[in-house]
Amino acid sequence: MDILSKREFSREEIVRLLGAEGGEMEYLLNKALEVKLAETDNLVRLRGLIEIGNVCTKDCFYCGLRRSNHSINRYSLTREQILECARKAYELGYGSVALQGGERSDEGWIEEVTTTIREIKKIGDLGITLSLGEQDEETYRRWFEAGAHRYLLRIETTDEELFYRIHPRDARHDFRRRIECIDTLKRIGFQTGTGVMIGLPHQTIGSLADDLLWFKARDVAMVGMGPYIPHPDTPLFGEAGIIPAPKERIALTLKMIAVLRLMMPRINMVAATANLTIDPEGREKAILAGANVIMPNLTPGEEREAYSIYPDKAAVSDMPGTPLADRMKAIGHRLLLGSWGDSLAFTERK
Ligand code: 5AD
Ligand code: SF4
Repeated sequence: MDILSKREFSREEIVRLLGAEGGEMEYLLNKALEVKLAETDNLVRLRGLIEIGNVCTKDCFYCGLRRSNHSINRYSLTREQILECARKAYELGYGSVALQGGERSDEGWIEEVTTTIREIKKIGDLGITLSLGEQDEETYRRWFEAGAHRYLLRIETTDEELFYRIHPRDARHDFRRRIECIDTLKRIGFQTGTGVMIGLPHQTIGSLADDLLWFKARDVAMVGMGPYIPHPDTPLFGEAGIIPAPKERIALTLKMIAVLRLMMPRINMVAATANLTIDPEGREKAILAGANVIMPNLTPGEEREAYSIYPDKAAVSDMPGTPLADRMKAIGHRLLLGSWGDSLAFTERK
């Protein structure tokens, strides 16, 4: 039997698939596309991305928003600015918005987010995804009750040793707590997503295979995976010399997406913006490898510049040129408009 007709893979099989090159890799990506089209559809789900603020209390070694990076201007969008972006998303027919920001847990901010969620729900029938880091259960519940229904919290790597190579080993950066947060979100009823960075220093193919097995075992509804992009103002930049070249990181990302599509045919998977930073066709390639979500950036220009998680992020997320609808049409896909675009894996489970 063709191994790619399977839906369950051993760790060894995944390692082999992630190592595929040339014609073999092409075959893997085509198979994943075929499975996506057969088991779901050719629709690209949209979330208007609103980067609500870059203030962050954490110090992740890879991220430009880390609190110790003093070379960026910190901002918080006003409620009215956020609502303006959400209205734009609604008018564009995106169906959903995603509020993303640095991690904070001061009460004033938590309450402001809660109010903002309520106000967004008054605009019209918009789905709301949050990506605001680790919070306690009560906060997650407040946001859920206010109307948010999806939450993204990347585990970054499921390899505990690697996790502590890319995060400080202290109370604020706790591998176990992160897993607990993901489980809490699921329990509350959020459509829960997670994901990893690909091409980190000291990351192995075996470790990436474990990541995929972990997503499946946790039965997550959404996954976002993208290449790691070294940021010069972060400690991890010192190890940029030992990571795979950009082309290889993209190829590995595409293979990760493809293998996961075979393993979890009906989840939502995002074509991450980080792909685009390395490769102008990165988003299309991810869609053709099995991804089915795109998050067009709606953050106002000035703030977008300051949301520099990795270099060149702002420049690419606002590229002029062919409209998205046409770009997707050219690769046999259509934009899903006027719908929340929930994960089929999640809605069927309920
Ligand atoms: N390269 C790629 N992705 C990054 N992220 C943070 N820093 C980088 C980087 N240098 C991703 C992480 C995080 C999300 C906000 O952005 O996965 O969860
Ligand atoms: Fe903050 Fe998230 Fe960046 Fe870590 S990855 S520093 S939590 S914004």
